[in-house]
This record gives sequence, C-alpha cells and structure tokens, in this order.
Amino acid sequence: MVSHLNERKKLDYGIDAPGIRMGMCLISIAGLTIIYLTILGRSGWLKGLQTVSFVLILLGTILTLYGTFMAGYMTYSSKIGKLKTRDFLLDGAGKYLKWEVVKQSLDIGCGKGLLLIGAAKRIRVGISIGIDIWNAKDQSNNNENATFHNAEIEGVSEKIKIQTADARQLPFENETIDLVMSHWVVHNIESENEQLKSLDEMYRVLKPGGVIVLADIQNVRKYKSHFEHLGAVTIDYNDGGFESKVMSILSGRTYVPQSVICVKPK
Ligand SMILES: C[S@@+](CC[C@H](N)C(=O)[O-])C[C@H]1O[C@@H](n2cnc3c(N)ncnc32)[C@H](O)[C@@H]1O
Repeated sequence: MVSHLNERKKLDYGIDAPGIRMGMCLISIAGLTIIYLTILGRSGWLKGLQTVSFVLILLGTILTLYGTFMAGYMTYSSKIGKLKTRDFLLDGAGKYLKWEVVKQSLDIGCGKGLLLIGAAKRIRVGISIGIDIWNAKDQSNNNENATFHNAEIEGVSEKIKIQTADARQLPFENETIDLVMSHWVVHNIESENEQLKSLDEMYRVLKPGGVIVLADIQNVRKYKSHFEHLGAVTIDYNDGGFESKVMSILSGRTYVPQSVICVKPK
C-alpha cells in the first residue's frame, strides 16, 4: 500500500510553459519588492510624497496579486485542470467511438503522456501512440523516459508506443488512426500556415468514421473551421465558458482554453 502511494506521488504530467510561469512568479516578486521599498522609503526619500507612495503601493499590490494568481492558475491547470479536461475530452470522444474497436490512437505532442495514457487506459486491444519533438520550453522535463515512466505507473506501458516526430509531418499512412488527439500543442507551432499543416496531417491519418479531439489555448474556433473545411463534422465545440473569458482578459488573449471534437465522415 505504502509503495503504491509512493508510486502515485511520482506520476507527473509536467508543468506547461514553465518559462511563462516563472515570469509570473517574477512579476509577483517585483510587486512585493516595490511595496517593500516604498514602505522603507516613506521615512526617507518618499517623505511627504503621499500620492507617489500610494501609486507605488497600488502598483506593487496589483503586480503581486496578478503574478501570484497567474502562476497559481498555471500550476493548477498543469497539475489538476488538465486531468479534468482529459476526462471531458475522452468521454466526449467515447460517445462517437467504441473503445473496444480502437486499433490505434495517436496523441500529437504527447509530452508526458496526458492523452496518450488516458486513451491507453480505455482502449481494450489496440495501441496508443504518442509523438513529440520534446521541446523543453513547452513542457518541463518532457522526454520519452518520463512519458514511459508515467505509463508504467498507470499500468499501461504495454499498450503505448512513443515516437519522436513532428506534428507537421506525421510518420503514418493515410487513414490508419481511429482517434487523433492533441492537447495544448498546436499554438506552439510558429506560423499559422504551419499550424494548419499540422491539422491537415491529423485529418490525413484519421480513418473515415474516426474522431479528432483537439484542445488548445488559442485559435480553437479557427481550427474547428479548418477541420470543417477539410470535410469533418464538428460534434462538440467547447468555448471554455466563463473561465476562458476571464483568462482571455487577464492574459491579453494569449490563454483562451477551448476544445473541439470532430468526426471524419465515412
Ligand atoms: C504544452 S506541452 C503539452 C503536452 C501534453 N499534450 C499535455 O497536455 O500535457 C506541448 C508539447 O508539444 C510538443 N510540441 C511542440 N511542437 C511540436 C511539433 N511541431 N510536433 C510535435 N510536438 C510538438 C512539445 O514538445 C510539448 O511536449
């Protein structure tokens, strides 16, 4: 029992965008420093400058609250929020897909295996494949070993396959995959053309009757339209609701978590 608990502790799906989270921590520290120096300065260089003191304390407070909230939210999303999203997405896919007949699922930009492992736990006889280019700025400590380690802890290591490959050039034949999944990956690809190329690849490898599940933090509505342009039928589009709207404002439209599920007609 104790060793089981220890193993659970080591399950780690990584911190996404670790550099940005660090930036948020630094904003918070900068805010605290401004408050501290202003309080110190009140009896010295800021003596009598009450308006300036007030503005500095206000600025420091805003920066501290903003940085702390954003860093906390990013940690929550990486550690808890995305596990809930995984269940939501795979439950959604399961409404249009029989897990018993899935021969191959594919997680594009699998990182430490969030959807790769989630699908492997549901698939009965098939295999769950994950591909990634292991870009460390997109997720902390992402590498094949870490992903395989998570799969072992989750008891699905025999049902997964991990490959190094780029989302824009998938090493799979046309129409061979039953379920294509991608979580928080496409925005990492630099130009819009290249992003759309990765969507084209997802659609190319998908079997007729197969399902695509895509979640990202930007442009999901545009990706939905692109899949429809390729011939897909959208079965669910989640605009992220209130949380997404608030985070869109707080992040200057850089973090708008949404998802889409579509089917390739037979
Ligand atoms: C934010 S992480 C998300 C990882 C995982 N899907 C999850 O939700 O935990 C983005 C991942 O996409 C990978 N990635 C970025 N560009 C890629 C590309 N062109 N092809 C394949 N993987 C890519 C990164 O290496 C990273 O592991």
